Amino acid sequence: MLEVQQLFRKHFGFPPIYTVQAPGRVELLGNHTDYNQGLVLAMAIDRAAFMSVSARTDGKVELISSAFPTPQSFSVLDTTRDVAAPWTNYIKGTLVALRQRQAHCSGFNAAIHGTIPVGAGLSSSAALMVATALAVRQLHPYTLTATGVTVPPKRAGNGSLRPLTNVEKIEIARTCHAAETNFVGVNCGLLDPLSSLFGKAFHAIEIDCQSLTIEHLPMIGEIALVVCDSGVKHALVDGAYNELRSQCEAAARALGVKSLRSVDSLFLNSNRKRLTEREYQCAYHIAGENQRVAASSRILRDGDFAQFGQFMFQSHESSRDYFHNSCAELDLLVSLARTHPACLGARLTGGGFGGSTINLVQRAAVESFSKAIATVYEKRTGRKLEPMICLAVDGAK
Ligand code: GLA
Repeated sequence: MLEVQQLFRKHFGFPPIYTVQAPGRVELLGNHTDYNQGLVLAMAIDRAAFMSVSARTDGKVELISSAFPTPQSFSVLDTTRDVAAPWTNYIKGTLVALRQRQAHCSGFNAAIHGTIPVGAGLSSSAALMVATALAVRQLHPYTLTATGVTVPPKRAGNGSLRPLTNVEKIEIARTCHAAETNFVGVNCGLLDPLSSLFGKAFHAIEIDCQSLTIEHLPMIGEIALVVCDSGVKHALVDGAYNELRSQCEAAARALGVKSLRSVDSLFLNSNRKRLTEREYQCAYHIAGENQRVAASSRILRDGDFAQFGQFMFQSHESSRDYFHNSCAELDLLVSLARTHPACLGARLTGGGFGGSTINLVQRAAVESFSKAIATVYEKRTGRKLEPMICLAVDGAK
């Protein structure tokens, strides 16, 4: 039995009816491009949020989490933000967003267990929201479309539901995105929930955030992806993320385009005078990231990880020197990685200002890489570093 199922049984005194899981993600390339309608490469990882549930009919939600000792309960109609237990807001927000799309529920008991480190920039919050949306779908099946709900899916003889279609995955991602933007208050993009839903084992996910088309690219070779959590807490709710987004939007307005997706480096440089220095720096970062992701599509199909790694280093430099969403610890991790002969590429991943770096490393040398980087990082910063090898996995189910 899974840990989350044991937790459910222990707290509620009977076994759960359904268990769902939603993976975390790493952003491989394409930093802050999602809300600029750009291109991004991500990967769902073998760390997840698990949720075991059973239905209730009294309109109450009762939660127990392995990470927080105090059980929580609230009404399904409750729309107040909880300051004492902010993790419950991701669940409440998802219920609110589902209800706005006519996907209702009559309450449930849920146990939650997660293996995604919190605050490491690996989308533990999006995973929790996706898990909530899928748990509600198990209890009260719904089919989301762009215009609302349609005929719910039927259960098979064994009680199971058919797998989600791509359209449904996109609409669930939009619902979770609405929860995070409107309820939690981070003006983020669609990257995190889309990655959790569209994961594929041994593959990267290429997302075009303008057309919302998704392709899978092979990540197969003698390589490993190592995540190094800097230990500096990245809290997206503070204003820095939203401020970057405003700069990008201001740059697009000043350039007379709908979004920075339409801006390449050539156009940007010939129109530089129309921008403030800060707007220029932000637009430069986004244009470069879009170009690198576009080129990576071919590169990953060819299995050219040496070139892909170079793009990762360039991406990090662009974050550090132009976008300014790195920090001393992330820069240190990337420069330490660079000095290891088996490291092909390294960069910060996700929002930035802390959180993790990702490192593309020759598989045979993963242990020596992890040991070397942890030893020096700990010595230089006094912070413990536990590099994690992450595998590409299938999406939420
Ligand atoms: C965070 C946000 C995403 C995306 C990344 C940066 O993870 O939640 O929407 O903007 O930062 O690429």
